[in-house]
Amino acid sequence: MTLHGQKVIIFGGTSGIGLATARMAADEGADVVITGRDQARLEKAIAELGKSVSGESVDATDRQALYDFFARIGDFHHLVLSISSGGGAGAFAALDIQALQTPIEGKVIAQLQAAQAALNTLAPAGSITFVSAASARAAFAGTVGLAAINGALNAAAATLALELKPRRVNVVSPGIVDTPIWSHFPETERKNLLEREAKALPVGRIGQPEEVAQTIVMLMSNGFITGTVIDCDGGARVK
Ligand SMILES: NC(=O)c1ccc[n+]([C@@H]2O[C@H](COP(=O)([O-])OP(=O)(O)OC[C@H]3O[C@@H](n4cnc5c(N)ncnc54)[C@H](OP(=O)(O)O)[C@@H]3O)[C@@H](O)[C@H]2O)c1
Repeated sequence: MTLHGQKVIIFGGTSGIGLATARMAADEGADVVITGRDQARLEKAIAELGKSVSGESVDATDRQALYDFFARIGDFHHLVLSISSGGGAGAFAALDIQALQTPIEGKVIAQLQAAQAALNTLAPAGSITFVSAASARAAFAGTVGLAAINGALNAAAATLALELKPRRVNVVSPGIVDTPIWSHFPETERKNLLEREAKALPVGRIGQPEEVAQTIVMLMSNGFITGTVIDCDGGARVK
């Protein structure tokens, strides 16, 4: 199956992995709708991606806004959830556990409630792809909060695949990928961090958003894969 003529909605389609997925799906002939919260970033992405891509500014932590959005968009085939609020890193002994509520809200709850709001209009032959992170499947010191947050999404996939059948539900678990998610670090710190992580991986480099996008497009296109978590992490689990 290709994505030609299919309608694909991508939360987080204005940046990084979501933006690369939007570009790849549009190149395959899909009709793509992207979202993000920042209007200027949304308009820039739509202008860059071309005619088959439209978009709306939606905050996935706003439940009513999600239901209004899906009602406006109407029937569609595939949902990709490539969003997070950031936050949640730090060594356990000093970790502010209460502060994890923000990333839990901004990732687990935001992705799950977007998926739930989509159910009225998501095609029976369609799919949902969540994006978690390698922190849930590989042990990195200082990422226990991230492991718990992303592990929740990984754990949901099989049960959701059962409950939502015949729709397919999968998760992509990326390792470190070169996207704007790292841009809050000062440039030298960001560069040093990414270089250090690259050296520790079996593939000897960090990932590119297009590599994760390929995995997401494969999961949307392959009608025989459901209830699974696919690692796209440069071998982070075996380092
Ligand atoms: N890059 C990595 O190294 C890496 C590694 C492992 C996992 N991941 C995961 O991959 C996913 C995508 O990350 P990325 O690296 O592509 O990040 P990114 O470049 O920062 O893109 C994040 C996207 O999500 C949107 N977004 C965030 N919160 C949102 C909300 N509440 N409602 C709607 N849109 C929202 C952002 O737009 P606005 O800010 O305008 O809303 C943006 O379009 C995330 O779940 C991240 O945790 C990334």
